Amino acid sequence: MPETLGAKDRILIVDDNEDIRRDFEKILGGALADATELDALDRDLFGDAAEELRVEENFELHQASQGREGFEMVRRAVEAGRPFSIAFVDVRMPPGWDGVETVAKMWEVDPNLQVVLCTAYSDYSFEQTTEALGGTDRLVILRKPFENIEVRQLAHSLSQKWVIQRQLRLRIDELEAANVRINDEMRERRRAEAALRDAEKLQAIGRLAAGIAHEIRNPLQIISMNLEALAEVPASVTALVAECSRVLRELVPGPEDAEQTERRAALLKALDAQAILGDFLEAHEEAREGVRMITDTIETMNQFSYRGVVGKDAVDLNEALRSAIKFTRAEYCECAELVVAYGEIPPVQCNRTEIVQVFLNLIVNAAHAISEHNTSGSLRGVIRVRTSSEDGYVVTAFEDTGGGIPSAILDKIFDPFFTTKEIGKGTGQGLAISYRIIVESHGGRIDVDSRPGVGTTFFVRLPI
Ligand SMILES: Nc1ncnc2c1ncn2[C@@H]1O[C@H](COP(=O)(O)OP(=O)(O)OP(=O)(O)O)[C@@H](O)[C@H]1O
Ligand SMILES: [Mg+2]
Repeated sequence: MPETLGAKDRILIVDDNEDIRRDFEKILGGALADATELDALDRDLFGDAAEELRVEENFELHQASQGREGFEMVRRAVEAGRPFSIAFVDVRMPPGWDGVETVAKMWEVDPNLQVVLCTAYSDYSFEQTTEALGGTDRLVILRKPFENIEVRQLAHSLSQKWVIQRQLRLRIDELEAANVRINDEMRERRRAEAALRDAEKLQAIGRLAAGIAHEIRNPLQIISMNLEALAEVPASVTALVAECSRVLRELVPGPEDAEQTERRAALLKALDAQAILGDFLEAHEEAREGVRMITDTIETMNQFSYRGVVGKDAVDLNEALRSAIKFTRAEYCECAELVVAYGEIPPVQCNRTEIVQVFLNLIVNAAHAISEHNTSGSLRGVIRVRTSSEDGYVVTAFEDTGGGIPSAILDKIFDPFFTTKEIGKGTGQGLAISYRIIVESHGGRIDVDSRPGVGTTFFVRLPI
C-alpha cells in the first residue's frame, strides 16, 4: 500500500446544488455518513483490506457552491501550502463560471490538482471538454447520476495517484539537486585541472625563459663590454681633434694662394669634436640604454623561473615609472599621448625590476587597447598615468581611452594565458604575472575599472 504524506487528503466539492454537496459528504465523509453501509461496500469490493482503506479514506471535505469560490479556495490552499488533492466539479453552475472554465482556472494555480468533472449527458461532449481543457491525465469525467461506490473508488484511486505523484516530484527534486551538486563538483574539478595545466605550462615557460636568459647573457656581456670600451672613444677623439686644430693653426704660413687659405679655414671648421661625435654620442647612449633594458628583462625572466626569490629595496616608484615609460615609448607613441602626473610619494619596499615589469605590461596593454579601438587610425588616444599616496598604499593608476573590457571577460583577464589578441601580439601572461608580482609577492592589490566603449583604468596599490 503506498504511503500517504501524513495529513488527511483534502477534497473540494464544487456544486451549486446543496443536496448533491450533502450526498458527497455522506459518501466521502466516512464517519459522518452511514458507516455500516459503507463498510459493507468496502468488504464487497476490497475484501480484508477494507479496514485499511477506511482509514485512508478519512478525507477532509470542503465545499463551494460556485466556480469562482471554488477557484479561490484552491488558490488559497496552494498559498497556505496545503493543496487539495481532488476537486469534484459540477459542469453547470449558473449564474457564474461553468465547470470547464472553473477547472481551467484552478489548474493555472494548481497544476497537480486531480479533477472529477460531474456532468449530465446534455452538457459538453467528452471531445468538447478535453478540447477546452487539453487532453489531460488529471481529469476524469463522471456521468450523472453517479453511483456512490463510483465516487468512493474515484476518490480513493485519485488520492493515491496524487500522493504518488507528489512523492515522485520530491524524488525528482532530490535527483535534480544531486545533479546540480555533481555538475558543480565536475566544474570545480575541471577548474582545478585547468589551473594545474596552467601551472605546468608556466613551469615549462619558466624553464624556457631561464634557458633563453642564459643564452642571451653571454653575447650581451660582450656587447656591454664593447660599449663601455667605446665610451672612452669620445675623449680620445676630442683630444685628437683639438691637437689637429692647434697644429693646423700654428703651421708657419707659407706663400698661400686664396684656394689654400679657403681649404685651411674649411678644415679648421670641420675639425669640431662635438659635431663629429654628436651622432656617435647619441647612438652610444641609446645602445647602452638598450643593453640595460635587455639586462633588466633577463633579470625578470630569471625571477620568473625562480619564483619567490626576489630581493626588495626601498624604491622610488616615480623613478621606476619613468623607466617603464621610456621602455614602452615605441608601443604607444604612434597611437596615443601619454600624460603623467608624478605625485608626492614615499619610497616603497619592493623589487624594482618586477614593478617596472608590471608598469610595462599595463602601459603596453593600454596602448594595444587604444590602437585596437581606433581602427581608422585617425584619432590619437590618451594614456594617463598618475601616482599618489592613499591609505597606507602608493597607488599608480593607468587610465586609457581604449575600447574597455567587456564584462563577460572581466573575471578572466588575470588568468594565465587568457588573451583576446591575435597570435604573436599577446600571450595572455602580462596580467597573470602582474597579479602574481603585486598581490602574491608584494602583498598589494591590482584592481580594474572598465567601461566598454569609454576606457579602462588599472590601479596598482603597493603597501608603504
Ligand atoms: N587596458 C585594457 N583595455 C582593454 N582590454 C584589456 C586591457 N588590459 C588587458 N585587457 C584584456 O585582458 C587580456 C589579458 O591581458 P594580458 O596583459 O594578461 O595579456 P595580453 O596583453 O593579451 O598578452 P601579453 O601581455 O602576454 O602580451 C587582453 O588580451 C585584453 O583582452
Ligand atoms: Mg598584456
